[in-house]
Amino acid sequence: SGNADIYHEMIVDYSRNPINYGEIENHDVTFHDSNPLCGDSIDIDMKIDDNKVTDIKFHGKGCAICMACSSVLTEITKGKTLDEARAIEKNDVLSELGLEHLQAVRIKCALLSLKVLKSALYTYIGKNLEDTPDVDKLK
Ligand code: FES
Ligand code: FES
Repeated sequence: SGNADIYHEMIVDYSRNPINYGEIENHDVTFHDSNPLCGDSIDIDMKIDDNKVTDIKFHGKGCAICMACSSVLTEITKGKTLDEARAIEKNDVLSELGLEHLQAVRIKCALLSLKVLKSALYTYIGKNLEDTPDVDKLK
């Protein structure tokens, strides 16, 4: 259908020209993780000022879905407070690209960067703030 074509085109575009791709040299936190199913991996670097994510970049290697979702996720996250960023949910990313009904195998591709983001946030919060949330409570 028309929508599916548009979403597919967006995914291909993002994978060729990812947004927020790169490194932040003087980051306040960085995290790396991989998709166990394929071995692809993503790093996320963030600059955090006054409890806000003022800059975020990702780099690494992944399939088109992974690159597209990393682009969308970093766009969504930029400018958010730490609390708002912690509250980002799977569907906030998936719905931007029409991926709400992906099969389980591809969901790992789509959500790799969200997993890395949450781990990076918890790493930062654990080091810098008093309350350390439970990493397993990812929504
Ligand atoms: Fe659609 Fe690769 S075939 S993203
Ligand atoms: Fe590796 Fe999708 S196949 S992230």
